[in-house]
Amino acid sequence: MKTWRIGVAGLGVVGGGLLPLLTGRQGQLSQIGAGLELAAVSARNRDRDRGVSLEGVAWFDDPVDLASSPDIDIFVELIGGSEGPARDSVAAAIAAGKHIVTANKALIAEHGAALARAAEDANVALFFEAAVAAGIPVIRAIRDGAAVCDIDYVAGILNGTCNYILTQMDRRGSTYKDALGEAQRLGYAEDDPLFDIGGLDAAHKLAILTVIAFGVCPDLKSMPVEGIENIALADVGHARDLGYRIKLLAVARRASESVELCVRPALVRERHAIAQTGGAENIIYFKADPLGVICLTGPGAGAGPTASAVMADIIAIARGARGPVFNRPAKDLKAASVVNPIVQIARFYLRFSLQDVKGAIAAVTEMLAANDVSIDSMLQPPVGEHPGKPAAVDVVITTHSALDKNVRCAVDAISAKPFVIGEPTVIRIEEF
Ligand SMILES: NC(=O)c1ccc[n+]([C@@H]2O[C@H](COP(=O)([O-])OP(=O)(O)OC[C@H]3O[C@@H](n4cnc5c(N)ncnc54)[C@H](OP(=O)(O)O)[C@@H]3O)[C@@H](O)[C@H]2O)c1
Repeated sequence: MKTWRIGVAGLGVVGGGLLPLLTGRQGQLSQIGAGLELAAVSARNRDRDRGVSLEGVAWFDDPVDLASSPDIDIFVELIGGSEGPARDSVAAAIAAGKHIVTANKALIAEHGAALARAAEDANVALFFEAAVAAGIPVIRAIRDGAAVCDIDYVAGILNGTCNYILTQMDRRGSTYKDALGEAQRLGYAEDDPLFDIGGLDAAHKLAILTVIAFGVCPDLKSMPVEGIENIALADVGHARDLGYRIKLLAVARRASESVELCVRPALVRERHAIAQTGGAENIIYFKADPLGVICLTGPGAGAGPTASAVMADIIAIARGARGPVFNRPAKDLKAASVVNPIVQIARFYLRFSLQDVKGAIAAVTEMLAANDVSIDSMLQPPVGEHPGKPAAVDVVITTHSALDKNVRCAVDAISAKPFVIGEPTVIRIEEF
């Protein structure tokens, strides 16, 4: 059995989780036919305790030097970031003919096609199972399990931080701000939480899944991405009263000549597994012909789950897994033409705060009707008294299927009325 020499750059949360798997599971590894040896590491701070003995393991201050070292066979990039040392070291590893494993979604989402092309030209493997939903083997399920299938859609919850916040708001009645603070205390949120709550992290993961599922590369800048910053506790409660939960959904759906892509909050029926996925868990559905509908759920972050996925990639390489990085030659990947959401048809949840004046509600319903938006249900939840302020009412409406553009026109027209207080809320209702 060949012993593969592994070089690991980045010894933080994920790297720290990987070291004991690489050094302490030799019995299991030999049983599955993978001889692995931790040969070299790189991080910023050489003196930091990494929890396992690194005696006899070569140290590199510069991950680029590690990536091109003749003493390793597989380079594992766990630094993070789409540029700088992560990108430079992966490029150096490819140039030096090393196989590569990375957990870096930003790097693969932004430079995956070019890196895949270079890796395929150099005949080396480039694996990144941990980059999407960490411990959930969704890339393997789509790339290998559905290798010859036509994918209809991929949809789910791809960001644990947002799901944790929305779950706390729903189950505990926490405000958005308190729930975010709690997510940060528990270490779920990225250093810059805007990356999570603004939807960009989920967009990176959706972009990667889109390339694998549909063979097209989406332009992240043209992908409609909305985060959860504007979700009010009131909307979480009204959605619940209507039999829904609000979730940050990432959806890629085959359209006639293109792919519909979006990351945005949506109402999902409470009985659906997506609505029931709480806390920091992730869930992904995909529908493939002739495979059928597959649902995967589990931990989408954390040292153990992410390191397990990295380890699975290393073992796959040691067992000889190769082939095109995104399941078709990288030179054949095309740019995705993304459908503009305004031409899409969907059901919507709308909430308006109105001054309690005669005719206000009638005016709202008239303006919806004038824009071809028909109402499915309407709630007028009781609102408390606000001493010193004019009386106000909340009006919550769900629509039948309507053109996105028409709903936006109606909402703009309603917002311009003097009896409307603040910004109306518009959230899609996703049916699966
Ligand atoms: N954390 C998760 O749950 C999770 C889940 C899925 C995917 N990922 C991805 O996994 C990757 C790593 O994430 P992480 O959470 O482990 O990050 P992290 O805890 O911040 O660790 C980053 C590591 O990179 C090292 N590093 C930073 N700059 C370096 C440089 N110039 N040269 C050498 N080493 C450098 C750091 O060294 P020091 O320790 O010396 O500072 C640290 O060990 C990211 O791409 C992330 O998106 C993470």
